[in-house]
Amino acid sequence: MALLLLVLVGVVVGVVLASSLLLRWNEVRYGNGRRKDGDGCLPPGTMGWPLFGETTEFLKQGPSFMKQRRLRYGRLFRTHILGCPTVVCMDPELNRRMLLQGEAGGLVPGYPQSMLDILGRNNIAAVHGPLHRVMRGAMLGLVRPAALRTSLLPKIDAFMRDHLHGWAGSVVDVQAKTKEMALLSALRQIAGITAGPLSDALKTELCSLVLGTISLPINLPGTSYYQGFQARTKLVSMLEQMIAERRSSGDAQDDMLDALLRSGDDGTREKLTDEQIIDLLIALIYSGYETMSTTSMMAVKYLSDHPRALDELRREHLDIRKGKSPEEAISYEDFKSMAFTRAVISETLRLATVVNGLLRKTTQDVEMNGYVIPKGWRIYVYTREINYDPFMYPDPMTFNPWRWLEKNMESHPHFMLFGGGGRMCPGKEVGTAEIATFLHYFVTRYRWQEEGKNTILKFPRVEAPNGLHIRVQDY
Ligand code: HEM
Repeated sequence: MALLLLVLVGVVVGVVLASSLLLRWNEVRYGNGRRKDGDGCLPPGTMGWPLFGETTEFLKQGPSFMKQRRLRYGRLFRTHILGCPTVVCMDPELNRRMLLQGEAGGLVPGYPQSMLDILGRNNIAAVHGPLHRVMRGAMLGLVRPAALRTSLLPKIDAFMRDHLHGWAGSVVDVQAKTKEMALLSALRQIAGITAGPLSDALKTELCSLVLGTISLPINLPGTSYYQGFQARTKLVSMLEQMIAERRSSGDAQDDMLDALLRSGDDGTREKLTDEQIIDLLIALIYSGYETMSTTSMMAVKYLSDHPRALDELRREHLDIRKGKSPEEAISYEDFKSMAFTRAVISETLRLATVVNGLLRKTTQDVEMNGYVIPKGWRIYVYTREINYDPFMYPDPMTFNPWRWLEKNMESHPHFMLFGGGGRMCPGKEVGTAEIATFLHYFVTRYRWQEEGKNTILKFPRVEAPNGLHIRVQDY
């Protein structure tokens, strides 16, 4: 018995010793806070275990991981998460500077390898330099205000009418419906695709692709990464076929695919290759999919919980409908007049924190508040805490859309819900128009109440693991 106890104590001491040696070694490996070349200092912090760093703690503790370290080290600290040495920045002013600094200041997108691999080498959110300019120019061309007014908004309106048809008298899972909405609405804008076998096939592949981009890059049959790649291959061949059919038919269509195939013909911008067009379309669907569906779902949730906000929103939309026949679509002017709706969308994005932060990679040594971040590190522009800053948003944990009407918060220098600088979201207006149109038909057609207990997780992504169920009736 005594021998067993001795062995046990020996094992425990051995494990503790080995662990602290490994942790220590990893700190030394990253210079112990000193740059290895002796050129400047790193921000305070810890690097965790070799290889894994502090990823497990980060994923398990979520926002409190950040808060605890901020308490210990301040608003700028180093860590090792998601496979990379990383500096987390929670200082709003410094974050703004980092986003504005962009490529010229040594910062390019730093998203995980799986995302880069699966979204393709021309993915707008990963490329930089002249290729980014070309891809971004093409993307902005598709969603410019004139296109939103004459082409996109009528399509969005027609789609939402259909999508929100016949919900009365049933229990609806808003999460499933808003996911479907984000995808199908994008497909209609891209190539006039309506619900049917083709959209079902695309949906299956896109879902696998999305899962693949947020998985570990292990390319073995059965892994999400592997399946994401397979999905990408199938999607690419479907899109290639669509392009070939368009070319052979020769008919002009009023959609994004047609605009991309024709773009550059007049010599005003560079002509995109088919591969670039395909990567642009995949990036467009991908970027809007989760952000749009989650924001729409959370808006429904917050409106359910705040009847006064729902009343005011409904009043805005009933006023718009007053002068219209039931079949008449909402116009660009109607959309622009939806001040309270816009406030509801911004408040939803803020309170739910649909985007936690943005990742950048350093292409050269980068100075941050006197520290020097080495080339090849990640900078996590962590914007989540800005959303709960009581100076910027008094009583920050309360859903209060009216706060957005009092001051023009969207032009506040620390407004980063859609990013900032040269990579600011190009889909901001079209995305807002889509959510606004969804809310328009939802609140003017229906009243609803939540059904059962719906759990909503806020980290690492906002989701309702078992759906968000509501019982819907005609208004
Ligand atoms: C509520 C909806 C949305 C939110 C909250 C949102 C948020 C963001 C944010 C924060 C970024 C900056 C990423 C970074 O700097 O690394 C971004 C970039 C981007 N977004 Fe959105 N987005 C939304 C909807 C959309 C939609 C509908 C589209 C497509 C039309 C879209 C397309 C893009 C693209 C292509 C980029 C990359 C831009 C670049 O790197 O130049 N987004 N978005």
